Amino acid sequence: MIDLSINGRQYSLQVDADTPLLWVLRDHLGLTGTKFGCGVAQCGACTVHVDGKPVRTCVTPIGALAGSHVLTIEGLASDGLHPVQQAWQEMDVPQCGYCQSGQIMSAVALLQETVLPTDAAINTAMKGNLCRCGTYKNIRAAIHRAAQLQAQAKK
Ligand code: FES
Ligand code: FES
Repeated sequence: MIDLSINGRQYSLQVDADTPLLWVLRDHLGLTGTKFGCGVAQCGACTVHVDGKPVRTCVTPIGALAGSHVLTIEGLASDGLHPVQQAWQEMDVPQCGYCQSGQIMSAVALLQETVLPTDAAINTAMKGNLCRCGTYKNIRAAIHRAAQLQAQAKK
């Protein structure tokens, strides 16, 4: 039995300790917003937060997460849209959309660390999130917009 919190809800999960978190989220809990891309920590599609930090769920065994707090795209905003989601919508970022929940989770983690990131900081923080549709320019613009929205919300 592995006890952990996911999107603020407490779970006691009966799964093999070496099951990747991605499969627990998608197959056991039906949280399919987190995507399977490469399976080897190379594309970022499967990114969620564990204790506030972005992790690749395809290579994170559930057994390593006892007592942790997991946040997925489904738990990002309890009411309405998170500022990053709002910015994504305003900038019309997604094309096929497949990579985008991972992109958003990485962007949220970046903005928690750096309130007004430069282009260079964005490129560094986001370089592990690949997009086959090439939405990188819009992602950068949306991160700048989300930074503005977050700053306005604090005023
Ligand atoms: S599916 Fe996890 S990084 Fe690609
Ligand atoms: S929007 Fe299609 S892979 Fe990124």
